[in-house]
Amino acid sequence: MSALLPTYQRHDIELIEGSGSFVTDTKGQSYLDFTMGIAVCNTGHRHPFVQQRVTEQLGKLWHTSNLFISSKQERVAELLTKDSHLSHVFFCNSGTEANEGAFKLIRKWTQKTEILTFSQSFHGRTFAMMGATGQEKIKDGFGSMVPDFKHLTFNDFESLDMISEQTAAVWLEVIQGEGGVIPAEHEWLQALMEQTKKYDVKVVVDEVQTGIGRTGSRYAFEQTPLKPDIITVAKGLGSGFPVGALITTAEAATVFTPGTHGSTFGGNPLAMTAAEATLELLLPDEQMQQVQNKGKYLMAQLSELPGTMVREVRGRGLMIGIECHQAVAPLIQALQQTGLLVVSAGPNVIRLLPSLFVTESELDLAIEKIKSVCQQEVMM
Ligand SMILES: Cc1ncc(COP(=O)(O)O)c(C=O)c1O
Repeated sequence: MSALLPTYQRHDIELIEGSGSFVTDTKGQSYLDFTMGIAVCNTGHRHPFVQQRVTEQLGKLWHTSNLFISSKQERVAELLTKDSHLSHVFFCNSGTEANEGAFKLIRKWTQKTEILTFSQSFHGRTFAMMGATGQEKIKDGFGSMVPDFKHLTFNDFESLDMISEQTAAVWLEVIQGEGGVIPAEHEWLQALMEQTKKYDVKVVVDEVQTGIGRTGSRYAFEQTPLKPDIITVAKGLGSGFPVGALITTAEAATVFTPGTHGSTFGGNPLAMTAAEATLELLLPDEQMQQVQNKGKYLMAQLSELPGTMVREVRGRGLMIGIECHQAVAPLIQALQQTGLLVVSAGPNVIRLLPSLFVTESELDLAIEKIKSVCQQEVMM
């Protein structure tokens, strides 16, 4: 019997080694990994540049606390905010924590409590973030939630009429990840931005899954009309090392002052080393252009999947969802047997989250496996 609380339904595979786009299990079976730890290892597994930097840091200093200045934090903050209207960063250890920080900042900044989030959204599993999340199954059995989160319909223009003087913030993902890889429409985001400006309402963009190059730009909002007051990142920031960040404007520095918020581990030297190396690798324009090109190639190939099985292929950059007419759990298992790891996003969507350094031949290999599993399923 396992001594672990059964909070996850796990596949019967133990992965023990990884390199680039591939992982190997305890039986020596190799898999092409298109999950990347759910959008975490954006540089692939154990990228040699990140590994070298973290190994060097391991030999110097692991942890200090935030009672001392940190040029490493300053450097990562600079990379996260360069050429942006966002200028100030708070470091923490996960996406949920970054979102909790954003929630506190919004409350203190606006002195209002109404926060508008969206149906199918996912923002984490603490009490405030369960409240923010627009999925009932996440809250089920936990009693009363933190009040004043209201969920609007995603991509629905009429819903935006709910934004008013009472609203502290509108909080959204540019592409809903856990909700099914659902991109926000450009015109709707434009209308959302206009409405928030009209009533002086803050905009929070949860970039925990979409950020750090995943969609072909540093942040997904950079390809949209949004001008957020706060964004949150985590997952891809440390190439697998746990790290999160809340990124905001200079105005917030008058709200979050010494003693208002904190984290023991947040911004620790190992995490900052991993983040610095990750950002140096991913952020150059040529790299982001390649993510866009590879994403377009993958989408074009996947559009050839049989319409009897696939309802829609959608996404941006290397965050792609294949919505099927049927439940995808058996397909995910069949793909595992061919040596391809993918993850679901809701019951009917297969989510592809390869390394941002995935090669064209690795993309072709994945496409071939997906096509063959779909063909087999159609013939059954
Ligand atoms: C959009 C979004 N926000 C928040 C989270 C929570 O992040 P974490 O699991 O690092 O706390 C996730 C995790 O999947 C996410 O996709």
